[in-house]
Amino acid sequence: MPPGRVLSGMRPTGRLHLGHLQGVLSNWLKLQDEYECFFFVADWHALTTDYAAPFQISGNITQMVLDWLSVGIDPRKSTVFRQSEVKEHAELFVLLSMITPIPWLERNPTYKELLQEIKDKDIHTYGFLGYPVLQTADIIIYKAEKVPVGIDQAPHLELSREIARRFNHLYGEVFPEPQTLMTAVPKVLGIDGRKMSKSYNNAVLLSDAPDVVEKKLLGMMTDTARKRRSDAGNPDVCPFFVTFHVLYSDEGTIEQVREGCAKASIGCTDCKRMVIPRVLASLEPIRKRRAELEKDPSVVESILKDGRRRASGVAVGTMIEVRKAMGLSGC
Ligand code: TRP
Ligand code: SF4
Repeated sequence: MPPGRVLSGMRPTGRLHLGHLQGVLSNWLKLQDEYECFFFVADWHALTTDYAAPFQISGNITQMVLDWLSVGIDPRKSTVFRQSEVKEHAELFVLLSMITPIPWLERNPTYKELLQEIKDKDIHTYGFLGYPVLQTADIIIYKAEKVPVGIDQAPHLELSREIARRFNHLYGEVFPEPQTLMTAVPKVLGIDGRKMSKSYNNAVLLSDAPDVVEKKLLGMMTDTARKRRSDAGNPDVCPFFVTFHVLYSDEGTIEQVREGCAKASIGCTDCKRMVIPRVLASLEPIRKRRAELEKDPSVVESILKDGRRRASGVAVGTMIEVRKAMGLSGC
């Protein structure tokens, strides 16, 4: 039995942070040893919201791929490519858009939420409404069986299954229905105590220098009720604890911190210093690999070129089947 095929993508938002590592990338790393994986840069999807600044996107692509490689995404095992370099995604998107009812897209909760939330850009566009249709094309063009995504993407995947089903019903069985591999995303909070996110400017980046990481962690928000050193604190509501101790400390340290915090026998700085070396040590190999990769600026380019070749091999074959099923030219 050949292993199933896994596909996932990320919009190129720039340098990645610890939230991406703990949530998405650690999962990709496991999957690349078990399945045939395709990981791609969703640069067309980035345009759905950032169409007014397309040139910024290309710089972000290199930085994001460097982060993928630095954490251990291995182009010998996985196909790493850029969406806009495999034009067949766009052809399938056009065809799927013929069969996707508008109400399916309008009731998508992510769509409704973002229309409310995003005020600094005009996203009342055809492309933004069609975001999940393009995402469906990305997935089914590789006949991917499994798509690892976070819970926020679940409605999109449900739509992808519906669109694939509709295609099969109208034109014959071409596509397997993609299954969601739900990624359990651990709680990763940023230095201001909110969810770690690039847009909040509160993130610890994978490529931050050790002294920057240390400074960010020492400045990170703690239990706000613990105002003085002599006040007792509650680790369970402390953003620093629930992120860094929970993810990086051993049981013994966690116990020590719980007791010390509750009895006010340790201060927040002592508490932070108990885990900072571990965080730095875990980032060290990532930083080293990145420094190595940065020496040769053509590395990312040649990996994407090879990825494009491998991805196209599959996508071109699927499109021949699709055109045949729909009686179009080019099969
Ligand atoms: N929508 C995804 C995100 O924002 C990115 C994405 C685009 C994707 N196409 C995909 C993810 C296909 C999985 C499969 O994270
Ligand atoms: Fe948080 Fe540690 Fe300070 Fe307690 S002692 S509030 S767990 S940083």
